[in-house]
Amino acid sequence: MNLIPSNNEAQPAEGLAVVVLAAGQGTRMKSALPKVMHDVAGKPMIARVLDTVAQLDPTKIIVVVGHGADQLESTLAEGTWADRLETVAQTEQRGTGHAVRQCESALASAIRSGEIKTVLVVYGDVPLVTSKTLSSLVSASQDASASVMTFLPENTKGYGRIVRQDDGSLARIVEEKDATDEEKAIKEANAGSASYDAGLLFPCLDKLTPSNKQGEYYLTDVIGMLVEEGKTVIPVVCENEHETLGVDSRDKLAQVNAYARDIINDHWMSEGVTILDPSSTWIDPEVRLNTDVTVLPGTMLKGNTTIGTGSIIGPGVIVRNSTIGTDSTVQYGVLANSTVGNGVSVGPYFSLREGSVLKDGSKVGTFVETKNTVVGESSKIPHLSYFGDAELGTGVNVGAGSITCNYDGANKHKTKIEDGVFIGSDTMLVAPVNLGKDSGTGAGSVVTQDVEDGDLVAGVPAVRLRKRNNKNDLEEN
Ligand code: UD1
Repeated sequence: MNLIPSNNEAQPAEGLAVVVLAAGQGTRMKSALPKVMHDVAGKPMIARVLDTVAQLDPTKIIVVVGHGADQLESTLAEGTWADRLETVAQTEQRGTGHAVRQCESALASAIRSGEIKTVLVVYGDVPLVTSKTLSSLVSASQDASASVMTFLPENTKGYGRIVRQDDGSLARIVEEKDATDEEKAIKEANAGSASYDAGLLFPCLDKLTPSNKQGEYYLTDVIGMLVEEGKTVIPVVCENEHETLGVDSRDKLAQVNAYARDIINDHWMSEGVTILDPSSTWIDPEVRLNTDVTVLPGTMLKGNTTIGTGSIIGPGVIVRNSTIGTDSTVQYGVLANSTVGNGVSVGPYFSLREGSVLKDGSKVGTFVETKNTVVGESSKIPHLSYFGDAELGTGVNVGAGSITCNYDGANKHKTKIEDGVFIGSDTMLVAPVNLGKDSGTGAGSVVTQDVEDGDLVAGVPAVRLRKRNNKNDLEEN
């Protein structure tokens, strides 16, 4: 997985097919959602794995689906890898070997023609493996019949063990449930990913039997078969245990997410970002931060988000798919699909919804919600307001408790507030309505009609009182 933006060190492999196993139920998750659809670092695990394998530039990606296959459909269809992805159904989960065997007809002709030379098998529930590690696994298999990723876990429980021959070469993999006490004592475990000579894999799968304690067709038995046939299988030891972590329970999900969080936070701190409390700061891998950004506790930066130099984000902020410029401060609130300029002050306690644009030097303050609204340069909505489908020019000041009445129950309407307008406290702007340049409203006005440039209106409904004499003749907020 390309966990952080600079971590793409994969070597594209020629003639590669990747099989991703994702048919298992994940019983221990106790979830209505298929296991691989649970989020890791802000994206479903399966999407993380597919992002990673796509960096190897495979000719084909096959995802083996079973439990909850329909719930995977939209995720599988929307990634950059979608054009080369095919799904294969495994209706009965009879083991990892059985799962890979279901891909035979999808790959047979490409293998025969030589278009596919190598098949990499990865598990959809091992989300933190990096493209660099998978790339070295695929490279190792180019001079052999297969390569297998192994590791030395602190706790080997549940893993297949790597049995080596006297000369140190690989002999076979034994699953824990079938292992003798001596084999259970082996410290080296099977991480799951393996890369095979495509021409050898399927003939071996045809010979698998379920004669083991679980009555399953084990993919891992292929390794012993190849060795018995005198073929070479290369073990590739993975040094980073977190890359091998599989998720089969909620506590493993939390563990994997915490690893991802720490890797990402360490990266950004090394790039000159201050993160006051890394354990409560969650940054998605796609986020881009500039130097001297400060992220305060309880903050989540999600999706396609960029933050400029000198901005201070948090405490208690969620930013999703948004851009924040330089030297802005954002405290306590939620910002989604929005753009904040330079030197902007947002919050505390705000909701910037989709299409909110806060231009340079503007302010959206306490208990303010905006949606599809442009707040012009140096304009201020400091307290207790809702602005929807509105456009505010420069230097506009909005009094506390003012709102746009933008929805008539059927349609949304626009409010336009031109440069220099002063909105008195508790003004209702009944859209569609335009307020001309330098105009103003008195406190408690209900504005139902357009206001001319420079006019002052007040009342319910608001009527013209007089020219607004100067910009400061109404109560400042
Ligand atoms: C597997 C390995 C084990 C290794 C461990 C690493 C086998 C037989 N054992 O065990 O050596 O140490 O992974 O995590 O491969 N799946 C299917 N269809 C099936 C069965 C499984 O698609 O019929 C998928 C699951 O959804 C999952 C993956 O294959 O994504 C691994 O299956 P799982 O049953 O969890 O294997 P482990 O027991 O963990």
